[in-house]
Amino acid sequence: MKILFATPECAPHVKTGGLGDVSAALPPTLARLGHDVRLLMPAYSGMKVAGDVLASVDIPAEGQWPAAQLLEIDPGNGVPLLLLACPSLYSRAGSPYVTPTGADHHDNAIRFGFLSHVAARLGTARSPLPQWRADVVHANDWPLGLAPLYLAQARLSEPAGSVAASVVTIHNLAFQGVFPIGVADALGVPWQWRGMDGVEFWGQLSMLKGGLQFADAITAVSPTYAREIQTPAAGVGLDGVLRARAGRLTGILNGIDTAVWNPATDRLLPHTYSASSLEKKALDKAALQARCGLKRRADAMLFGVVSRLTSQKGIDLVLEALPALMADGGQLAVLGQGEPALHDALAAAVARYPGSVAVKIGFDEALAHLIEAGADCFLMPSRFEPCGLNQMYSQAYGTPPLVNATGGLVDSVTDSGASSTGTGFVMRSADSEGFGEALRRARAAFAERRRWRGIQVQGMARDFGWERSAAQYIEVYRQAAQLAGVAV
Ligand code: ADP
Ligand code: GLC
Repeated sequence: MKILFATPECAPHVKTGGLGDVSAALPPTLARLGHDVRLLMPAYSGMKVAGDVLASVDIPAEGQWPAAQLLEIDPGNGVPLLLLACPSLYSRAGSPYVTPTGADHHDNAIRFGFLSHVAARLGTARSPLPQWRADVVHANDWPLGLAPLYLAQARLSEPAGSVAASVVTIHNLAFQGVFPIGVADALGVPWQWRGMDGVEFWGQLSMLKGGLQFADAITAVSPTYAREIQTPAAGVGLDGVLRARAGRLTGILNGIDTAVWNPATDRLLPHTYSASSLEKKALDKAALQARCGLKRRADAMLFGVVSRLTSQKGIDLVLEALPALMADGGQLAVLGQGEPALHDALAAAVARYPGSVAVKIGFDEALAHLIEAGADCFLMPSRFEPCGLNQMYSQAYGTPPLVNATGGLVDSVTDSGASSTGTGFVMRSADSEGFGEALRRARAAFAERRRWRGIQVQGMARDFGWERSAAQYIEVYRQAAQLAGVAV
């Protein structure tokens, strides 16, 4: 199958969260399964991509769309990278989505509308690449939401079966790409699709809704999340659309890139270790304490957090529980960035518990690895979590996670109280009581050396590799192709 994986971010080139990791790991796994996979993303400024340039193709301006260039680069992982170069749209300071001060780029609708337009063209006879066109276009999150719509539009004028099938993946339903309905003109959304059965969302245009309405298949990043988003409580206004298309919706749990997240080979760790040399994990704990200015105490129970600092992640529950976390010499190391109010609250916690609470605001890949390895227990009390990767990393690193019972956390962490093969601590209610109760259980287990070690080792033995999930994606692509009449 010829698969185009279209995404706004991909590690290590550009990453703001889990989608960057998924984009880096899933496509090469699909390629190893024998498929012809390419990855499309914008050429952002400051990106350094090493590899041979395989092709460079001009995309002339057309109608409302600007002129651009498509660079095909071989990064050496079996998945050629298609970089969409259009400096007026993608060369600027900030992240893919926001300016350095955190405001959305003013023209995000056009920036990602154009990316979606090019993704769709790569699945038609008008593919900009002379030798290649996709059988399946895999669109990720709202920035690629319009790609399925543009493919549906191409089907109106091109012969049946000659236009790629479309799959859209929901990594986070909370981000929907909602813009004033007036941008429909600039995006070339056909009139008949501007209403409720199309992209309209409470009088505005929702790119993600476009994807959900027009994709041949929809996936969400965990089975539990796929169920949750069909309910009003977690559907963020799109549960009705998702229920209507439930027959097309599948939940597939993300995997982890075991070449990057493996404590036995991790080059970002001062000391590597495995389940049979767990005592060396203590060296990373000491390194983490030294690096963060925490007291060098081997016996302190050290809690770790690596997170976007938003209300999604339940950091307020961690802050509320500070006295309980600090009891008996407990320590906390937090790495993250996001909402200013949370930055301030975390700074206040450092001031209140010097030497016991350490906070680094910013994005720091090496420190993220060191926290996964050096902490004793990883905290992830997310209010909702489509999949979550950190709880899988922490299990692989022998750092049992304490998680809320939501989304992918349910599908990837087994409560150590409920099962003899438990790998972590699952909250029984999504509030401070639930957090406090799970924390007491974690502390009690930590106090029993052998029991703790059992929980660590069980987590480390889990297979979170991508192979199983990649095979499920292939199945979804096949179903989508069949529905679209594309022979694969
Ligand atoms: P989300 O995508 O919702 O942010 P995930 O758990 O799926 O949550 O993925 C988050 C990814 O981003 C992980 O790889 C995590 O290590 C990384 N990450 C988040 N914040 C930071 C940070 N401040 N510094 C380094 N890595 C971070
Ligand atoms: C989103 C979700 C996270 C998920 C990631 C990758 O950012 O918030 O739970 O793991 O996407 O799919």
